[in-house]
Amino acid sequence: MVLSDLYRDPSGIIMLDVAAPVLEEEYGLLGVLILRSDANSFLYPLIQSWPVPTKTAENLLVKQEGDGVICLNDLRYSAGAALSLRLPLSGETLPFVEAVLGKRGEFEGRDYRLRLQSRQITDEKALKAFQESQTRIRAMAMIHEKLYQSKDFAGIDFADYIDKMVTHLFVVCEVDPKRVHFRNEVRAVILDINRAIPCALIVNELVSNALKYAFPEEKAGELTVGMFKDETEKYHLAVKDTGIGMPKKIDAHRPQTLGLQIVNDLTKQIEGTLELYRDGGTEFEITF
Ligand SMILES: Nc1ncnc2c1ncn2[C@@H]1O[C@H](COP(=O)(O)OP(=O)(O)OP(=O)(O)O)[C@@H](O)[C@H]1O
Ligand SMILES: [Mg+2]
Repeated sequence: MVLSDLYRDPSGIIMLDVAAPVLEEEYGLLGVLILRSDANSFLYPLIQSWPVPTKTAENLLVKQEGDGVICLNDLRYSAGAALSLRLPLSGETLPFVEAVLGKRGEFEGRDYRLRLQSRQITDEKALKAFQESQTRIRAMAMIHEKLYQSKDFAGIDFADYIDKMVTHLFVVCEVDPKRVHFRNEVRAVILDINRAIPCALIVNELVSNALKYAFPEEKAGELTVGMFKDETEKYHLAVKDTGIGMPKKIDAHRPQTLGLQIVNDLTKQIEGTLELYRDGGTEFEITF
């Protein structure tokens, strides 16, 4: 028996053939029986019936073709992908690229849906804004991951989390960790989810800003994220860089831009206070 590749028949329907020899004792091979099946009526529904852990998860069938990977089934969020969506093997950690490259088990990668959307955005500013909202989503998703990994869902080890998140931001912002040295000074702090999420998003904004603006023209320096609990049980969270400093005209408490507005709103949400120090770079301190 021989199984064909998936292919489009002349009317454009995706088919799969199974060829079986018809053998006879005396005369040997009499012919070949070809069983043709419409992928949409059997194979694709079968693939989508495999259980997945969440509502938005999906099963993909992919194949390597030269230096790319081609989708064999339609994607839930990209109709018409079957046999036509082709993505390069290099550059990005899309899970289906990793899969054809031989990676097995559970691993992280970029969601193809975000990748497809960002390909449609041609305006550079819009693309930047879109990529920034991705880091915000990513920051939250990583908190949930950490929570599920924790033994009893009791809390998030924030030092650990910060390591992972900041490493990710260096990659996204394309900053060489040898040029900007990162120091994690988060002491043993375990946060519940209601505080971990706002704190994570605040750090995401402030670290993204430091990586984007504090060290222009390949300037070198240091970036520190610190957190500790004082004797009065108050937490102090600080993000500090040794860069060029914030422009004087920016009022950190009444900003006109989204990033710092998010920082202010989330500080209020955790009933905290925000302080900005401008000596030797930029330091934000949130106490709550
Ligand atoms: N660590 C920093 N060093 C120097 N300048 C900074 C720093 N952080 C912020 N800035 C300046 O403050 C401005 C406002 O930051 P804010 O995060 O509010 O907006 P943004 O980063 O420009 O856009 P977004 O709303 O997407 O975050 C930045 O455009 C930048 O000029
Ligand atoms: Mg910003």
